Amino acid sequence: MTGPHSHAQAPARPLEGRKLLLCVGGGIAAYKSLELVRRLRDAGARVQVAMTEGAQQFVTPLSFQALSGQPVRTTLWDGAAEQAMGHIELARWADRVVIAPATADLLARLANGHADDLVTTLCLATTAPVTVCPAMNHRMWLHPATQANLALLRGRGVQVIGPEDGPLAEGESGPGRLSEPDAIVAALAADPVPAAAPDRLNGVRVLISAGPTYEDLDPVRYVGNRSSGKMGYALAAAAARRGAQVVLVSGPVQIATPPGVRRIDVRSAAQMREAVLAELPADIYIGAAAVADYTPQQVSPQKLKKTPGSHTLVLELVRTADILAEVAAQEDALKLVVGFAAETHDVEKYARGKLVDKHLDLIIANQVGIAGGGFESDQNAATAYWADGQRDFPGTAKTQLAEQLLDLITERLDA
Ligand code: PMT
Repeated sequence: MTGPHSHAQAPARPLEGRKLLLCVGGGIAAYKSLELVRRLRDAGARVQVAMTEGAQQFVTPLSFQALSGQPVRTTLWDGAAEQAMGHIELARWADRVVIAPATADLLARLANGHADDLVTTLCLATTAPVTVCPAMNHRMWLHPATQANLALLRGRGVQVIGPEDGPLAEGESGPGRLSEPDAIVAALAADPVPAAAPDRLNGVRVLISAGPTYEDLDPVRYVGNRSSGKMGYALAAAAARRGAQVVLVSGPVQIATPPGVRRIDVRSAAQMREAVLAELPADIYIGAAAVADYTPQQVSPQKLKKTPGSHTLVLELVRTADILAEVAAQEDALKLVVGFAAETHDVEKYARGKLVDKHLDLIIANQVGIAGGGFESDQNAATAYWADGQRDFPGTAKTQLAEQLLDLITERLDA
């Protein structure tokens, strides 16, 4: 029964259809990962296991093979295994990589982008989201070096589960215990990444603009806007996960480049225009950037000084080129051109106006200037308009909205 009085129950197999690559690090907690494989499979996931050399000192590959029902990968240099499923294929196969236990050394190597063994190479080669489940001595865990590595990984969107507080292998107590397998399964099940992302975008060239532009007034001041880049980056990350070749032309933002995305940093509207046009042709252009409509007519080479006796300062601004309209005009260079409209009122009227005036295939209108959506927020709501249709996307995380928008963009590509 479903309805207002029914009790919501967790699905029996919350990871049904998920393809998880479990990378086992070299710590005593590796024995718990055997149980983790069993629990992941009970939850419906398909599991492939890769082990570091250290992990094999604690548990044998054979045990993981028996529990996963799959051959276990232990080295980059295994010709037979590479023939069956190469490590790059394995990295692409996974819809999430889970590292348990993640030792201090493994975290350090991941944070620094090493590819000096099978596990670190897989992590570098995958575009799937990565989860680490740390386990180590509590002093190692609390060491500033480990915490700095964690911060780096978190900044790249890596999910961190645990560690738990409690008795440790060396007879000491503190934070460092690997999370229980059930807790790891629950955290993975709560993850919003869909089970199997559609691959219609596989190999498709997607060009995305994101973030604000800064229009310099003098060497220390600029005219900017409140775009954080979160919406555009979420789209880039989601498109890359679907196998698209993503180029992200980004204004100044504080976000790490999503895995598998080629990023070009720009500052001003003029630089963004130049970078975007240089990346054509592409299959899809998505203009998620908040591009300045006006830029100072002159950039002062020296810091502007206050004029004695004057209480006002008049800035002369000139129109910038409309990048989106220019891209849309290059009909042969693209299959689909998608704009965004950031509006504070009369959203449909202005969005449809831009759809027609700029000759777009699709426009995503979002209301700005409100709490819980638009600029800076982690959440957003939108309505998409195209010539003979529209679709509402109620408020949700920008990461989630990006997935829903890509579903629609994929539909419109085939329309
Ligand atoms: O970055 P976040 O903090 O996550 O916020 C997301 C967002 C609100 C910035 C994003 O969802 C959004 O709405 N982006 C478009 C913002 C905007 O500039 O809207 P606009 O209505 O002014 O412009 C319409 C379209 O023309 C946009 O696709 C814009 O990229 C494009 N444009 C505008 C001016 C210009 N000179 N060149 C352009 O290409």
